[in-house]
Order: sequence, then C-alpha cells, then structure tokens
Amino acid sequence: MRGPAALILSGGKGTRLRPLTLGTPKPLLPLVNAPSLGFPLALLRKHGCRDAVLCVSDELAPYRPFVSAQKKLGTSVLCSRETRELGTAGAMKNAERLAQGETLFAFNGDILTDLDLTAMLRFHRERRARITIALVPVPDPKHYGLVRTGPRGRVRAFIEKPPSGRSASAKGVLINGGIYLMDRAVLDRVPAGRNSSVERELFPGCVRDGLPVFGYAVPRGTYWLDIGTPEKYLQANLDVLSGRLKKIVPAGSLRRISPSASIHPLARVGPDAVVGPFCRVGAGAEVRRSVLLRRVTAGKDSVVEGAMIGPGSVLGDAVRVRPFTVLGPRSRVTAFSRV
Ligand code: GTP
Repeated sequence: MRGPAALILSGGKGTRLRPLTLGTPKPLLPLVNAPSLGFPLALLRKHGCRDAVLCVSDELAPYRPFVSAQKKLGTSVLCSRETRELGTAGAMKNAERLAQGETLFAFNGDILTDLDLTAMLRFHRERRARITIALVPVPDPKHYGLVRTGPRGRVRAFIEKPPSGRSASAKGVLINGGIYLMDRAVLDRVPAGRNSSVERELFPGCVRDGLPVFGYAVPRGTYWLDIGTPEKYLQANLDVLSGRLKKIVPAGSLRRISPSASIHPLARVGPDAVVGPFCRVGAGAEVRRSVLLRRVTAGKDSVVEGAMIGPGSVLGDAVRVRPFTVLGPRSRVTAFSRV
C-alpha cells in the first residue's frame, strides 16, 4: 500500500547558506556527494510514501536528473514551480493539485532526520488531528518557532523567536521541526496565488479557530538537523559520514570520494572529508573535516580543515584554509590571499 503523498518545500532564498547557494538550489546541494533532497525522499520511501511533489521556486531544469534518479529508486516526483514568491503555505497551496489523497505529509526540504514517520502517522490518526507537527528539542531555540502544547499534545500556542539561551527542552517547550501531517482540507484556508506562511499564518490561525492541531514530540534518539547554514551543512556531511543516518541511507551507498576525483598518492584526505566530482588534490595537500564541492583544485601542500569549498574553486600551492571558512563558487585563493 502507498502511504500519503508528500509536499516537499524546496524553494525560498537560501540566504543563510550563501555563498554556497549561488548557482545551486539549496535542495540540490550535495550531502556526501548525493543531493541532500534525496535524504527526506529516502525516509519517506522507507515509510511507504512513494509520491512526492517538490515545491520549487527556481528553474526546473537542474531538478530533472534528480527526478529521474528518484523514479529509478521507486519514488514518483512531480515539480510544482512558483512564478512568484509564495512563502511556505502559498507554495503548498500551489502544489496541492498535484498530490493525491486526503492526508498529506509536508516537509521542509532542508531538514535531515530519521524520524519514524509511521509512528507519527499513527499518532495523527489516533488523535483525529487535522494537523500534526513534529516537535523537536534543541539546545538553543532562538532561531526557531516554539510550540507550546497541552494534554495529549494539543497545540496551545506558537511563540516566535524566544530570548537567547532559553532551553526549549528544560521548559517543556519544543520547536517546530518542519515536518507535518495535514488533512488536505486545511489547505482550503490558504489564499491562492498570494504569499503566506505556514508557521506565522496557517497554523496559528487553525489553533485560534479551535481545529485539532497536535504536536508530535519526536522520540528520544531521533536524529534531526536543519541544514540551512554552512556550519550545519558541514555538520550534516560529517554526521552522514559517521553513519548517524544509516537507518535511511544504507552504508556503502554513498561515495565520500567521488570516483572522478583525482587525489595525488602523497596527499592526505581524512576519513572525515568529502571530495566531489572532478576535484584535484595535489601532492602533500591535507584535507580534514571539510567538503570540497565539484571541480575544486587543492594545490600542492595546501591545507584545508573544517571548511566548505564551493564548486570550481582553486586553492593555490601551500594555501592554508582556516576552520569555518566557506568559499563561494569559483573562488581563487593563493598563498597570499587572506581567507
Ligand atoms: P533562508 O533564506 O536561509 O532563511 O532560507 P529559506 O528561504 O529556505 O527559508 P527557510 O529555511 O525558513 O525555509 C524553510 C523551508 O521552506 C525550506 O525547505 C525552504 O526551501 C522552504 N521555503 C521557504 N520559502 C519558500 C517559498 O517561498 N517557496 C517554496 N517552495 N519553498 C519555500
């Protein structure tokens, strides 16, 4: 049996991930050399969901190879393109006609998780919820929307941007994890063709009007990461490498070093480094805790540690790239540049 269809939010500006998103749509940025969007789709497939609609606000052409690859894996993917900025709720409304079924999953496409979607669907049905929101504890919730719940997980309120340092889990308050189940009819409340937000308009409106909106606190041990910033994106690569996502991505299915990369025998590439297609790593170069996106050249005796290097960049001989460096596409760095 096929599970509910999924709407995957894959648009927006991706400003926090700049400069890496200059030239590549955020959902197609690779995680260990595979498009990051493949991870939520693998999770959905594992839980019986094989129909997905991507809500895209960029050109569709870069998505085509991804869509065909997903088809081979058993997921049928349709794309719904926005011709103007519609926001999270507007994008779902725009895509609704392409999704079958009365219950829909909706995902922020930049969330990496191994959440048990079958258990979440059971929770949604048992409570006869119209909307269920996955709720996640994070150490510092200041960049997220908090959700306050009452008995049996019924959502009482949404709180935007709490003061820094306040611990979500300690206060019994969790954040909106960007993964939802909803009755299709909920989208009747979204105005067509206009910008609107799930987090600020649709969900708070449903709670105010007394609809059964529930929060599903993710079970302890669930992996969850919002990969919307360069630091988190690097972390996501390292976590995938360390096997944290092995429940959804089988070991051995990912290539840490692309087969088309050329690595000099005297270069040292650590087990925590990812080397993309057509990269070249020169003699004596060292790469650790870093991601080299496609066609990066790391010159002789260069050292790259804790960095994200954008596609087509060239690091000259003896260049040292400091931790937390993020270089955009086609950067040129020589030993005399300051990075
Ligand atoms: P920042 O500019 O860095 O905040 O990134 P963003 O624009 O992606 O915003 P944010 O991370 O808050 O978005 C949450 C999710 O919704 C992500 O998966 C986005 O891809 C997606 N998203 C945000 N706005 C839109 C939109 O207008 N259309 C579509 N289709 N998706 C959106």
